[in-house]
Amino acid sequence: MRENAVAARDAASRDMACAGNDRHDVPTDFERLAELAISRRGFLKGSAAFGASAFVLGAGAALHPAKAAAASLDFTPVAANGLDTVTLPEGFGWQVVARWGDPLWSDGAPFDHASRGTAASQERAFGDNCDGMALFAHEGRSVLAVNNEYTNLKIAFANRDSGKPETEDDVRKSKATHGVSVFEIARADGAWGIVQDSPFNRRITPDTPMAITGPARGHAMMRTAADPEGATALGTWNNCGNGRTPWGTYLACEENFNGYFSSSDPDLALPAGFARYGIKHEDRGYGWAMTDERFDISRHPNEPHRAGYVVEIDPLDPASVPKKRTALGRFKHENAEVTLAADGRVVVYLGDDERGEFLYRFVSDGRYTEGGDNADLLESGTLSVARFADDGSGAWIALTPEATGMASAAEVCIHTRQAASAVGATTMDRPEWVAVNPHAAEAYCCLTNNKNRGVKPNAGGDATPVGGPNPREKNKYGQIVRWRPADGDHAADAFAWDLYVVAGNPTVHRDDRAGSANVSADNMFNSPDGIAFDSQGRLWIQTDGKYSDEGDFAGQGNNMMLVGDPASGEIRRFLVGPRECEVTGITWSADRTTLFVGIQHPGEKGDSHFPEGGDAAPRSAVVAITRDDGGAIG
Ligand code: FEO
Ligand code: CA
Ligand code: CA
Repeated sequence: MRENAVAARDAASRDMACAGNDRHDVPTDFERLAELAISRRGFLKGSAAFGASAFVLGAGAALHPAKAAAASLDFTPVAANGLDTVTLPEGFGWQVVARWGDPLWSDGAPFDHASRGTAASQERAFGDNCDGMALFAHEGRSVLAVNNEYTNLKIAFANRDSGKPETEDDVRKSKATHGVSVFEIARADGAWGIVQDSPFNRRITPDTPMAITGPARGHAMMRTAADPEGATALGTWNNCGNGRTPWGTYLACEENFNGYFSSSDPDLALPAGFARYGIKHEDRGYGWAMTDERFDISRHPNEPHRAGYVVEIDPLDPASVPKKRTALGRFKHENAEVTLAADGRVVVYLGDDERGEFLYRFVSDGRYTEGGDNADLLESGTLSVARFADDGSGAWIALTPEATGMASAAEVCIHTRQAASAVGATTMDRPEWVAVNPHAAEAYCCLTNNKNRGVKPNAGGDATPVGGPNPREKNKYGQIVRWRPADGDHAADAFAWDLYVVAGNPTVHRDDRAGSANVSADNMFNSPDGIAFDSQGRLWIQTDGKYSDEGDFAGQGNNMMLVGDPASGEIRRFLVGPRECEVTGITWSADRTTLFVGIQHPGEKGDSHFPEGGDAAPRSAVVAITRDDGGAIG
């Protein structure tokens, strides 16, 4: 960060219209707006994005400020670029750990670049489009659980003229690219790799048997011909972000589950609730209903009610049955950020990534006890939705049958979006990942972008007014909102919020599209998506945005990963991904000397051969990042 920006940032008590204003001669409309909002909500010295320090609720209840404890960001930021590789600061290196199609067992066929694999090879291999992940250390071993969100049909089926699955084997292959891959990794001669045939290795796919748990279990809307009890479901797919629990389980979050269903009856009247979730007569080209009638909504109209949940998986027991946790609601889940309330109840923050949808919180009924039986803490609790006020305050509104007008808790857990609409939740700019600061009672959520903000309502007809945590019309760049719960307790129903950063392009725009004061020509980015804290309290921000490097996005290059200081607001670019990828998924080795990052869909439009180069097929990959001096990296 440039010196004048640092100086501006430190001048915490200065007029907001000038503080951090290192690129404008006069305050922009947005800065005036921000100044107004900040003074209205009673910030003592301004938020981190605009200057640092504590703030209070409008009602005057003091909240715990973030500790200024984040370790210094000891690297030289990298410049934006459009290279087809991973770019890191000097003193850091990277290597591939696992690529799409790498066999997890020695009887699996190596990835074939010409055919892009078969059903048989894919079922024994790492899935495609890696996303959220977590490393579980167990008796000196490292087990990685990784979501395989989806597959790019034109890449996976480049061997077909149609660029789509055409045969039964193709559909099986497509399904096996999805789900979750669990596998052991180990470091030999400094390099991490897959431990083939490890007893921990497992593929979880759209066909893996799962238990349905929580309020929706057994409800009439959950019953199908194959499962008249509404208690078991097959599989998980489109698993985006993830979570991990203090009791050692992995949470895989089902996001765009809708795009796999279709109707063989073109005149089918869609059941109530389908439109809100984007379930239509046509799928997104996957064709799973061709060979699996579960995905034909004209034959099995309740099947879509059995997807869109958070799935809890025991990564250390390959024989365990994954559990769909309906208590955490049904929507297009991004990640599931788990923390504990002051009294030991489990708190899970959950984003619903769709334009104008909502931000949720689950608080368990039971309490976590170290070493105790915590297996079913996610089975029952209170699901709430966020309502943000323009004055910087906010509240969690419980989605009870009484509050929502719904008949039962089961209905709330199945038609969660409609329940949240009924209580007047705040429509958001696509809530992506949430991260909780391990050193302060605060949480951050990426609001990635929203071209519909201020333009049209969400799919439920809720208005999307410009304001509050969604301050820009036709929001192209995104922002990160953070909140601090009252009394420092994540189970409290009141919170105070501000914007940690408003992304933009100050080299192109001088209005609110320039971004907040902690955005400069040197660190600018768009569409924050993945977000996580490291053990030192640094905030890692991953992007899934426009990589045209033109127009509104000129100078921003490929998608990237940045590091933010929650206390000062300083943000530096740490990594630039290869062409046409998004950077998503982050976890660390037990000794914190390796940072694992996901590179998803390089070459989604045809312009990458990452990671192998030459004429190779582009392959999503988990990469390991280490310091040349072997030191900790988070
Ligand atoms: Fe799968 Fe919202 O990203
Ligand atoms: Ca995402
Ligand atoms: Ca995204």
